[in-house]
Amino acid sequence: MRLHTISLGCQMSAADASEMQRPLARRGFSSSEDPEQADAILINTCTVRQHAEDRAVSLIGSLREWKEKRPDRVLIVAGCAAERLGEWLHQRFPHVDLVVGSKSIEEFPKLVEEALGRRFDALEENRRAFREVCQEPPQNGASAFLTIMRGCNYSCSYCIVPFVRGRELYREPATILTEAAEHVSRGARELILLGQTVNSYRSHFVGKEVRFAELLRLVDRTESLERVRFMSPHPFYVDDAMVSAMAECRTGCSSLHLPIQSGSDRMLKLMRRNYTRASYLDKVERARRSIPDLTISTDIIVGFPTESEEDFERTLELIEELRPISAYTFKYSPRQGTESSRWPDDVPTAVKEDRLERLNALVERMSAQALGARVGRTAEVLCEEPLSGRTRDGFRVRWKDPQAVGRTVLVRIASATTRSLIGEIA
Ligand code: 5AD
Ligand code: SF4
Repeated sequence: MRLHTISLGCQMSAADASEMQRPLARRGFSSSEDPEQADAILINTCTVRQHAEDRAVSLIGSLREWKEKRPDRVLIVAGCAAERLGEWLHQRFPHVDLVVGSKSIEEFPKLVEEALGRRFDALEENRRAFREVCQEPPQNGASAFLTIMRGCNYSCSYCIVPFVRGRELYREPATILTEAAEHVSRGARELILLGQTVNSYRSHFVGKEVRFAELLRLVDRTESLERVRFMSPHPFYVDDAMVSAMAECRTGCSSLHLPIQSGSDRMLKLMRRNYTRASYLDKVERARRSIPDLTISTDIIVGFPTESEEDFERTLELIEELRPISAYTFKYSPRQGTESSRWPDDVPTAVKEDRLERLNALVERMSAQALGARVGRTAEVLCEEPLSGRTRDGFRVRWKDPQAVGRTVLVRIASATTRSLIGEIA
């Protein structure tokens, strides 16, 4: 039997989707790129902005025909939009077999058993497919996601995540280390530790408290692991311990994705972000002093309620000062139930779009400068694909002669495009 998986939204959602594939694999499903060939489709949904949820809902609607063609097929809808919309999804789309919200991910194997139990138990094909699945590597390539925590204890005024994912839950270091070693044994050379505010991590290991910095040091001991990245840290929890761990660990990388959301302190306060522009920049400065060539990327929201032209210009200035190599930029989207959804969404759409355009133009200029500055250098690149990989400071590099995935090579950077570097294997 074949499973087609569609993951919408962030890396967390992608990691959850691969976690949900495991019980289905045990049930005999192997993966299929083609939905028409598939006996089951798993959609992991996102609700962080209205646009993301609309996409999920229209995708689910469009699969009605897929299901009607063969009613024995199984359609599973999981993730954050499933958590928010719950029963409504069942009523609106009777062709959906199973809705599993993001808070119930731990129960997913049980729910799948209940939903599929009767349907597929007796199939001989099931047993045959099981052997195929075992031979399939659970991850492709050199980089693997590893979820270290779920949920978020913050309550940023615009954000739906705490509602759909709940309070923070941490995986134990022992489990994380076992999973890290497992990924490496399957070929991974890089791990991307995931959590909604990944650096608020706290747990215990052999009787001692382990915070995020200590976890980085523990994971660093994993044999044959070369790089550790993480997403997304919250600026509040960036401290000297975390920066020193990044600087001192063998696997540490010189890139940091650190969402700021706005350059205006008035906006940051209304967003309930728990830092100021100055404290954010100060932390980045300290990190840059400890980690040579550190690159920064960030997230920005434009058109938050009451954002004036002056507030927005503070954001543009901040970008000039921060010099990020890239940024994810978003128009504010009110999410029902959040604090800011009770305030008028008073920045007109046309103004939001204009600000987004100006911001993107500036970010592109920063990117181009950063890419251009790498030309002529030699960089250590982890081959994630035969013809491309990434530098330790987070740049995508492409080349002509195929290389073994998982190898680390030295590449002479010959030129830059708008998003990546072009190099020759040294
Ligand atoms: N509207 C627009 N952008 C949002 N984000 C989160 N919630 C919203 C919202 N309601 C953005 C933030 C966050 C990223 C994952 O999505 O920038 O860092
Ligand atoms: Fe949302 Fe804020 Fe938590 Fe990030 S820190 S997930 S933006 S509530």
